[in-house]
Amino acid sequence: MKRVIIDTDGGTDDAMALLLALRSPELRVEAITTVCGNVALEQATSNVLRTLRLLGEGPHPPVAAGAEAPLLRPLRTARHVHGRDGFGNATLRRGADGEPLYPPLRRPLLKQRGDELILEIVRANPGEISLITLGPLTNLARAAERDDGGMRRAKEIIIMGGAFETYGNVTLTAEFNMRVDPEAARRVLELGIPATFVPLDATNRVVLTPAMLEPHLGVAAGSEAAGGGGGALAAFVREITGVVMAYEAERRGQPGCTMHDPLAVAVACVPEMARAVETRVLVETKGEYTAGQTIADLRPRRASQAAAAAPQARVCVEVDAARFFAMFEERVLKG
Ligand code: BDR
Ligand code: CA
Repeated sequence: MKRVIIDTDGGTDDAMALLLALRSPELRVEAITTVCGNVALEQATSNVLRTLRLLGEGPHPPVAAGAEAPLLRPLRTARHVHGRDGFGNATLRRGADGEPLYPPLRRPLLKQRGDELILEIVRANPGEISLITLGPLTNLARAAERDDGGMRRAKEIIIMGGAFETYGNVTLTAEFNMRVDPEAARRVLELGIPATFVPLDATNRVVLTPAMLEPHLGVAAGSEAAGGGGGALAAFVREITGVVMAYEAERRGQPGCTMHDPLAVAVACVPEMARAVETRVLVETKGEYTAGQTIADLRPRRASQAAAAAPQARVCVEVDAARFFAMFEERVLKG
């Protein structure tokens, strides 16, 4: 079983990724850390606690809040995509009894900061911990600033981020998680921990549609019971994806929610789900128009050339979308 720490910025697809991770027998989630990104840190953290509560009162992995701002830049959120609360405004909704539909788990957060917790767990378990990052890499970079040798004891990093042979989703060249904190991404890559990128090149191929949710909506919205079951998780997914589905319908003429973060979790569970190219990844930090761009040579090469390029990463370029959705349906939507 893979022992993982999940670092998340509390958006719609982050929540689905957490549900998938916590219901995957291949993974043991040692901790969840939060980072600003899709929304401000406080909202990201409360969204994680709301997601955990859907799985019942626990026990759950410890949760620690991390960075409130990128290393050097002001935060740019994605509230226009994920809703004001990062959850398609579902947290603002109330049930028939007037109570919030998705209250957070009532449990104190760890006093430790996210970067401290990551470092503590990695240091105590050399070569054992896989880090799954679903947001900007600020917490990991901060942990590296504290003790880069300690962070190098991580087994691997699975990064949802980057856009290589496709357009970015915030600028023409940059994917959101890389664009929010390019300096952090660069710092983390410099650690040389084996990294797997799950970039837009792969995630753009896994798009959840309303038709996929429909068969699983066993209960009416507003009657979701904590603990899952009876379509509760599918109903939650429908609620939180409403805004992003509408956003996509406007932009592309079809409602859909790209499953960026859940795909990163699925690849952590079953690496064969994606075809990856071994290469060297660089992150642009200076470009006036290209900050956050990820750069790698993905062309087929002779072994000698590949060795000369000193690969430090695997970049997922193709994905078995049917296998991904079968997994998501079985583990989350039927829950
Ligand atoms: C990434 O950015 C965020 O909007 C999503 O949660 C995902 O982690 C996709 O570019
Ligand atoms: Ca995310």
